[in-house]
Amino acid sequence: MRKQIVAGNWKMNKTFSEAETLITEIADALDEVDLKDAEVVLCPPSLYLEMTTDVAFESNFKVGAQNIYPEDSGAFTGEISPLMLKELNLAYCIIGHSERRKYFNETNEFIQRKVDALLKHNIRPIFCCGEVLPEREAGNHFDVVKRQVEESLFHLNVDAFINVVIAYEPVWAIGTGVTASKEQAQEMHAFIRGLVSAKYDGNTANETTILYGGSCNGKNARELFAQPDVDGGLIGGASLKADEFLQIVTSF
Ligand code: 13P
Repeated sequence: MRKQIVAGNWKMNKTFSEAETLITEIADALDEVDLKDAEVVLCPPSLYLEMTTDVAFESNFKVGAQNIYPEDSGAFTGEISPLMLKELNLAYCIIGHSERRKYFNETNEFIQRKVDALLKHNIRPIFCCGEVLPEREAGNHFDVVKRQVEESLFHLNVDAFINVVIAYEPVWAIGTGVTASKEQAQEMHAFIRGLVSAKYDGNTANETTILYGGSCNGKNARELFAQPDVDGGLIGGASLKADEFLQIVTSF
């Protein structure tokens, strides 16, 4: 059966000492709970990755990065490479986040290169997709998400694709306090799973983890995660407080 995952995307938040405190609080709290079969992933800013992997080594969570540049090394000032992440034994890396699409003009084609660069080093991409509000209001949300998934992922063969985690993050729900309803989430997740089934096969679609992201919190996680095609969450703001994050990771 596919993996259930809750990943915390800290974005550009926390000072070093605040990050250290939060990681320790989360690690300690995770020792006390039954995660069932769910996996917890923390994605701190890259500066804190090494410290986070040190704690993760003796704890019950995995570590992911928030971004890479799709080359192993070179003259790309300010960037970090998948090879660097591999040396830290990172399990995951978020790519295609709407904030990177918006503020850094990342295209589906560029994100495709990141998918390949990560898979080359056995790091699982957490691939984000999702429509902006005018696209939903115009009824284009399925087309938008279909294009994002097709153009960044569907060049992969099935053996590579099976390592990808998809996160549906409607942009209008990110950081707004407006969560997608459980029906809206389920509908889009089922649609994405249908795309995977049509491109690959039913078994691959069944094994694909599809996370929901966008104002997911301790109060709404349980009903979202109860949807048949919602396999967990990619959590922003609510992952910055240990007690609320713990509430979410125990919402299956
Ligand atoms: P919020 O949970 O803060 O809405 O952010 C979601 C997100 O963008 C996770 O990647």
